Amino acid sequence: MAEPRGPDVFARAHLRLALLFAGIVVILVVVSSFITYLNVRSDLQAAARGVFTPGETEQEFVTRSLGSFRWRLLAVDGAIILAVGIGGLLYARSTLRPIRDNVAAQKRFIADASHELRTPLAIMKTDFEVALRDTAFPDEARPLLRSGLEEVDRMTGMVDDLLTLSRIDAHQEQLVDERFDLAALARQTAHKLAGLAAAGGVTVQAGGADSAPAAGDERHVQRALANVLRNALEHSPPGAAVEVQALTAGGVSSVTVTDHGEGMTPDELEHIFDRFYRADSSRSQERGGSGLGLAIAQWALRRMGGDLVAASTVGVGTRMTITLPMPRA
Ligand SMILES: Nc1ncnc2c1ncn2[C@@H]1O[C@H](COP(=O)(O)OP(=O)(O)OP(=O)(O)O)[C@@H](O)[C@H]1O
Ligand SMILES: [Mg+2]
Repeated sequence: MAEPRGPDVFARAHLRLALLFAGIVVILVVVSSFITYLNVRSDLQAAARGVFTPGETEQEFVTRSLGSFRWRLLAVDGAIILAVGIGGLLYARSTLRPIRDNVAAQKRFIADASHELRTPLAIMKTDFEVALRDTAFPDEARPLLRSGLEEVDRMTGMVDDLLTLSRIDAHQEQLVDERFDLAALARQTAHKLAGLAAAGGVTVQAGGADSAPAAGDERHVQRALANVLRNALEHSPPGAAVEVQALTAGGVSSVTVTDHGEGMTPDELEHIFDRFYRADSSRSQERGGSGLGLAIAQWALRRMGGDLVAASTVGVGTRMTITLPMPRA
């Protein structure tokens, strides 16, 4: 297994790439010139000796020589093209190896670190909860404990997202195929996040179809809904409303979450499903999200045959739509 290398690995790869490329071009030019030279020389020598085929004039000899020279040149070109193709593949593989090793090392690190962080976080959570239940604990310390517990929960969520990401990359994240009611799940999720909505002075209006039968992995869909709704709440000004609407049409069940927050520019919108992307980092930094929620949600929904799409206008708001296939009868 290759050792993780420092940043100079790119400088070395750069130099090696340039040298290899120059070397290959030089070899090709020299080889093709040499072969052309040998061909022309042998024809000219034959002409100088006057060894023409019986009955052949000088003019006919030149035409025949040029014709055969053309075919030899074509054969040489074919061989060179083949050599360039094979050489190019080997060359690309060798120059990409350090980058591939680094990416693999990074992924291993994310997987190992998130795995290792789970136990201390679980212990901290239990400690905070035990302390909060302890009646001997001074009341003044309770807000501090509650805030600590919230932070531990947030970090646990981030670590879980990182672990999910590692499992997705290792093709280990398995999805189950269940039947459930997307409309009911959306209502439940809105209910669970009522505290967050109230804290931000935002009202959630759940409506639309009473039931929206869907097929997919309910746990992942719940996670996607919670992230989309949390995003909408966190980006809504106090006093605003967030609308959650369920719908069924054409064999598809969907839920739209509409907020009236600051919205996003087309440029930001293009990247929100990228891993670790957070638009307007100064604003997002305060909340400390990891920028993984939408990337994981879209991956999961697409694997279930559904999708997650976004539409947004700066100063007007954002609409996120989750779609899932309806179960086959
Ligand atoms: N409703 C919205 N209004 C404005 N910006 C949004 C909205 N939803 C998402 N975004 C932008 O898209 C980014 C990516 O969202 P995503 O949910 O993937 O990550 P996050 O919320 O920052 O972190 P987490 O991984 O904890 O969910 C957010 O940081 C935010 O900038
Ligand atoms: Mg989010």
